[in-house]
Amino acid sequence: MAKILENIKVADRIYKLVVEGNFKGEMGQFFMIRGWEEFPLLSRPLSIHDKTHESITFLYRIEGSGTDKLSKLKSGDKLKLEGPYGNGYPKTKGKVAIVGGGIGIAPLLYTAKGLKKYIEKLDIYLGFTDTSYLTDEFKKYADNLYVSVGDFITEKINVDEYDYIFTCGPEIMMKKIVDMTKGKNVKTYVSIEKHMACGVGACLVCSCKTKNGMSRVCKDGPVYDGEDVYYE
Ligand SMILES: Cc1cc2nc3c(=O)[nH]c(=O)nc-3n(C[C@H](O)[C@H](O)[C@H](O)COP(=O)(O)OP(=O)(O)OC[C@H]3O[C@@H](n4cnc5c(N)ncnc54)[C@H](O)[C@@H]3O)c2cc1C
Ligand code: FES
Repeated sequence: MAKILENIKVADRIYKLVVEGNFKGEMGQFFMIRGWEEFPLLSRPLSIHDKTHESITFLYRIEGSGTDKLSKLKSGDKLKLEGPYGNGYPKTKGKVAIVGGGIGIAPLLYTAKGLKKYIEKLDIYLGFTDTSYLTDEFKKYADNLYVSVGDFITEKINVDEYDYIFTCGPEIMMKKIVDMTKGKNVKTYVSIEKHMACGVGACLVCSCKTKNGMSRVCKDGPVYDGEDVYYE
C-alpha cells in the first residue's frame, strides 16, 4: 500500500493525486489503482501524469464510482498501485508536437518532460471544452504552447512543422490528427482508452481493432501508431 501525499481538486471533476514512493514508469504507461475495499470490484487504470524519485502523480476526472471514491481520499490515506503497465510513447528525435484534449492531457506532462531532454523542438497543444487547467505546468517544457477552450485545438496545428505528433484525448480528435497527416512525412502516436479488467493482457476486456488484428490495449497499447488503429 502506498501513502497519499496530496489529492486536490484542480478544476470541476478534475483531481491531482500525489502518491509517495519511487515508482518506475515510462512516458504514456499507466498504473491500476485501487483506493477502496470491495466495491467497485476492479482497480481503475490511470496514466502517469508526473513522477520524481519521491512521488508519482496522477491526474483524473470523476466518471463513476471508482474515480468518485478516489476523489474522497485525503493525504495520509493508503491505496494500492500496480504497474507500470503497457507500452507508452516512443523515445524519438526531431520536431515533436504533443496534442492533448480534455483529461487526455493526463499522460502528456510526463511525456513532455521526458521528450524535452533530447528533442530539437517541442510544441504543446491543449484543448479544453469549458475551462483550461494546469497549462502552466506544460509551459515549462514547451517551445510554444497553444491552448484552446471551446474551439477545436486541431485547427491550430500545422502538421508539416513536425516529424512526430503524440496525442491523447477523444478518439474523434486523435482520428482528425491522423487524417491531417495522411500522405505527409509525419508520424502520429495515439493513446487509446478502453474499459479494463485485469490490466495485464489476460482477460481481453480491453480489445481494440487494429490493422494487425485485435489488440489488447493494456498489454500491446495503450499507445499505438495512429495509422494502425480503427477508430470508433
Ligand atoms: C490506459 C488508460 C489510462 C487512463 N488514464 C487516465 C487518466 O490518467 N486520468 C483519467 O481521468 N482517466 C484515465 N483513464 C480512464 C479511467 O480509467 C476511467 O475514467 C475510470 O476507469 C472510470 O472508472 P469509474 O469507476 O470512475 O467509472 P465507471 O463507473 O467505471 O464508469 C463511468 C462511466 O464512464 C464509462 N467509462 C469508464 N471507463 C471508460 C473507458 N476506459 N472508456 C470509455 N468509457 C469509460 C462507463 O461506461 C460509464 O458510463 C484511463 C484509461 C485507460 C484505459
Ligand atoms: S484488461 Fe484484461 S486483457 Fe486488457
